[in-house]
Amino acid sequence: ADLLPIPGPRGVPVLGNTFQVPADGPSAYFANLAREYPEGVFRLELAGRQVIFVHDPDLVAEVCDESRFYKPIDPPLSHVRDFGGDGLFTARSDEPAWGQAHRILMPAFSQRSMKAYFPQMLEVAQQLVCKWQDRQGADLRVAEDMTRLTLDTISLTGFGHRFNSFDAEELHPFLQAMGNALVEAMMRMRQLPFVTSMRRGQDRAYRDDIQTMQNLVDEVIRERRAEGRTGGSDLLGLMLDAADPTTGDRLSDENIRNQVLTFLIAGHETTSGLLSFALYLLLRNPHVLAQAYAEVDRLLPGDSVPTYETVMKLEVIPRILDETLRLWSPIPSIGLTAYEDTVLGGRYPVAKGQKISVLLAPLHTHPGAWERPDEFDIDRWLPQRKADHHPHAYKPFGNGERACIGRQFALTEARLAIALVLQKFALSDPHSYRMHVKQTLTIKPEGFTVRVRERRPHE
Ligand code: HEM
Repeated sequence: ADLLPIPGPRGVPVLGNTFQVPADGPSAYFANLAREYPEGVFRLELAGRQVIFVHDPDLVAEVCDESRFYKPIDPPLSHVRDFGGDGLFTARSDEPAWGQAHRILMPAFSQRSMKAYFPQMLEVAQQLVCKWQDRQGADLRVAEDMTRLTLDTISLTGFGHRFNSFDAEELHPFLQAMGNALVEAMMRMRQLPFVTSMRRGQDRAYRDDIQTMQNLVDEVIRERRAEGRTGGSDLLGLMLDAADPTTGDRLSDENIRNQVLTFLIAGHETTSGLLSFALYLLLRNPHVLAQAYAEVDRLLPGDSVPTYETVMKLEVIPRILDETLRLWSPIPSIGLTAYEDTVLGGRYPVAKGQKISVLLAPLHTHPGAWERPDEFDIDRWLPQRKADHHPHAYKPFGNGERACIGRQFALTEARLAIALVLQKFALSDPHSYRMHVKQTLTIKPEGFTVRVRERRPHE
């Protein structure tokens, strides 16, 4: 077949399509644009660089072939690297630090480790429930409280550090600094470098925010060292103690600092988004909510306290989470780059080094791979139906060796939190929330509130 140019909207000289992309919601803009390109691929010129967007599942299968494409550290991740450094998320795959940390930390994410973290996950989830018990009838800000839950959970289980976020009305200074830094990293993606260097005030604020985050991380590491307890099987214990099974090397102090910061960020933003979107979807789908209540009442009758084993027996709630991640993937896209000049779909030429972005929402709702794609249908995730899914039409946790290391952690934490909330509360949404997505590196439903009331027996 003949080669075809990749289609795309016309831009203006130098700036290309940069200013067609709204600063506060690039992912919604890209998703809308994807609908105009049924061939499943289009290109844009952004801040002087061409980016190819892909959402057709067969083309996604090609770009997920790790012998042809790799994860690049370019905008926005190259900006996130200003604070994540060579931590797992923002390390290049060919940097020794990536492989070493990956091998050292894998055991901390095994099923056995999830079981070991469970008591601490439960403790934090119970703090959420206590807060909501005290605030019955009030408007509860869902994304904020889920962020308290997930940040406190990763820091307690991973590093033995207590944020005690539920004790404070304001979000922790670490969270404020992180939010600002992520917004700035996104802004920089749209700027030509000379513009970035002219924005001196923003640059100073950005550096201060990074400093705030690093100070907290140094404090967390200092606490552990002061306890004289370097070993242990949590993330920090492994990093301070364990050697890479392949090279025998240990992680440098600088790298440990980058990993702790990386995990504090990667370990909570996304899971908080997942939990917030899940409650949103449950309130809009009462028949699914009823199924979830039935499951919780069967496995967690009365005031019984969940164990790790109970959470592993849940079956409806995991399908709710799978389907939530399909419709509202907290990470809107993943980036890939071609090792060599290549051709996509037998007809679209792609140059070596070309940046490709896989758009997850359009992929997850692609009509070629999903029936009634916009419908919230948890039965898609019944074991017998899962086998029929297109193998590359669902990537909420990314791809290949650079896929999410925290997947089981996130799902265990989220199953437990939803189960506890439903065991205790009847939920309502008296303001009939209309979805408003806030995007930093991840997306969340901004301004979403619910009200809760303790359930009475047989309700
Ligand atoms: C990587 C999604 C929770 C730690 C990723 C990637 C995605 C993702 C899409 C790949 C990014 C890329 O290709 O650039 C999610 C979602 C989560 C979640 C949707 C929750 C629902 C977590 C948690 C942790 C975590 C709880 C830690 C406890 C990481 C790390 C990486 C990563 C360290 C980088 C892995 C590497 O490249 O070696 N995640 N994540 N994530 N995630 Fe998650």
